[in-house]
Amino acid sequence: MARPKSRLRESRTATSRSPQDSRREVERLRQEIEHHNYRYYVLDDPVVTDEEYDTLFRRLQALEEAHPELRSPDSPTQRVGAAPLDKFETVRRRHPMLSLSNVTTREEMAEFDARVRKFLNLERVEYVGEPKVDGVAVELVYEDGVLRTASTRGDGLTGENITPNMRTIRSLPLRLRSADGPLPALLEVRGEVFLPIAAFRRLNREREDAGLPAFANPRNAAAGSLKQLDPAVTAARPLDFVCHGTGEIRGAEFATHWDTLQGLAGFGLRPVPRSRVLGTLDEVFALFTGLEAERDTLPYEIDGLVVKVNDVRLQRRLGEISRSPRWAVAFKFKARQATTRIREIVPSVGRTGVLTPVAELEPVAVGGVTVRNASLHNMDEIERKDIRVGDTVLLERAGDVIPYVVKVVPEKRSGDEKRFRMPRRCPVCGADVVRAEGEAAYRCIGLSCPAQLKQSLRFFGARGAMDIEGLGEKLVDQLVDRGLVRDLGGLYALDTDTFAGLERMGKKSAANLIAQIERSKQTTLPHLLVGLGIRQVGEATAKALAEHFGTLERIMDATPEELTEVRDVGPEVAASIRRFFAERQNRKVIERLLAAGVRPASVKRAKGPLAGKKFVLTGGLDAMTRPEAQRRIEALGGRLLSSVSKETDFVVVGSEAGSKLAKAKALGVRTLDEREFLRMVGG
Ligand code: IVH
Repeated sequence: MARPKSRLRESRTATSRSPQDSRREVERLRQEIEHHNYRYYVLDDPVVTDEEYDTLFRRLQALEEAHPELRSPDSPTQRVGAAPLDKFETVRRRHPMLSLSNVTTREEMAEFDARVRKFLNLERVEYVGEPKVDGVAVELVYEDGVLRTASTRGDGLTGENITPNMRTIRSLPLRLRSADGPLPALLEVRGEVFLPIAAFRRLNREREDAGLPAFANPRNAAAGSLKQLDPAVTAARPLDFVCHGTGEIRGAEFATHWDTLQGLAGFGLRPVPRSRVLGTLDEVFALFTGLEAERDTLPYEIDGLVVKVNDVRLQRRLGEISRSPRWAVAFKFKARQATTRIREIVPSVGRTGVLTPVAELEPVAVGGVTVRNASLHNMDEIERKDIRVGDTVLLERAGDVIPYVVKVVPEKRSGDEKRFRMPRRCPVCGADVVRAEGEAAYRCIGLSCPAQLKQSLRFFGARGAMDIEGLGEKLVDQLVDRGLVRDLGGLYALDTDTFAGLERMGKKSAANLIAQIERSKQTTLPHLLVGLGIRQVGEATAKALAEHFGTLERIMDATPEELTEVRDVGPEVAASIRRFFAERQNRKVIERLLAAGVRPASVKRAKGPLAGKKFVLTGGLDAMTRPEAQRRIEALGGRLLSSVSKETDFVVVGSEAGSKLAKAKALGVRTLDEREFLRMVGG
């Protein structure tokens, strides 16, 4: 199906049309965009390019911008637009969301079937089998086809209103499609929100890098993402939704569960994939076995097969017992858990320099896969769970094959277990390992640490840093993997011949790149500082440092006290800078850079009437705050320092001046009262 192109061409500016025209166009765009969402996210079968989609989207945004009266919460532009909440409201539903009873063996499954047939007094009963998606149960309420509320299961009868967060899920229709016939006046849809395994792993990697606790499994990650008060956070997590049932329906009727699923699909929702009608118990077992075998290859977690009586009238006859339907059962896969012993805990250095403690395990089979290692994520996690070398632990394989340590089995302790400590030096390069305040992560600060060299190089060449065009990810990978560059300085030793031997590198592009690298030698001090990737030193701080100290050498030798005299540099940032330059490896790299000809132009301090003058402030000023005073002094070329010495030109004496005044007098430094100071800086 090709999308008619003519519409794009005819689009005029948002203001040149009548209100009715705009309303109609907005409506048409919304339908069209939601249709493409459906093709892409539900059917996985897009019919337009991303560019075409973006064009439509921007057009709709422009129209809604120009006509605020046309805005609507069910517009595709509003999927991420909602404001953060203070708390979740509770939702009380008409019909409780039930849970399922479990079976774990073929015998128990056969007993369920026998029980159902006996109750109904039937020879044969038809079932529907659906994968049991390991996600978070939610209910959606559509009124006249429009999504009104979405809520968590909660205690079954009352849940939390998470509508703004659910709107961010692209596979969820904000308005139902009406394939054939009218839309039901009321449709309560039930299903699972889940985080695909790939997204789960990405999220945990990011959290590890940021020193945040990892999620144990995709389900917890999905639950955590849904419970965000700020929908923007939820929107950044690619949650997905599949449906597996209904609550109340008004204005439509389905005779079987299978028909219900087909009906929901017709409304634009996605029923749990791989669901089937099952005529016999053997077919139940066949689907179960098939799914269990497929389990590790699916993009999301499933933990069993849900078997449901197909005929809705029979379901009603069977009814429910203690909050579970008698007409359905969860046939669970074997738990992917096992216990084993931790032989050793070894820190592994990631591409961002974060040290992740990894448990080396006595090999153990967990759900058919032999597991030898498990990430312990970070020190906080180890301390929280009190994991020690020699401990017996319970493992769970959650999502993919990466196992997770659920807990220690304390009964198995002998007393010989040893606590793990992060090494003070990087196991890969020997540089200092530091833990930033308030972070769980320990990091290696080695500029040429092989574990993070790729990242260091990319950072170095990036815009805002040394700005070496063409030094992209693929090229960096090749340079490092082939051992052509061992530290940042090595970049400047490359020649055209080396480059020409690399993949997708012609003579011309090699020459261009060499020229770029050559050009980068004439850089500025802030650019070089940014390129070194010192933690907590971004562009603004780099600039402030350069302006304050003037040369790289002075910054490298500055004491923490001197560093904190720079605007925006607090004790933490000062400590980070100190540690970076105290590391021998880093000083060596800098030496190599300078020897290769990198010449950061020193930044001239603002010239002005106070050029070169050093101020110290003691006590408080009435007219301005300390940062304001500093800004004024610096704007005129002066500097505000924190302690008085012979070099100090002026000590500004505010109210309740302290020992600095006495020191100024002792050293014979000139003092200014607030009025004199204000006159000097133009107050
Ligand atoms: S049917 C009355 N079908 O499993 C029927 N549930 O352990 C209730 N689940 O809370 C649910 N996949 O969140 C059903 N295909 C599926 C399912 C499914 C996952 C969840 C659901 C429920 C829990 C019960």
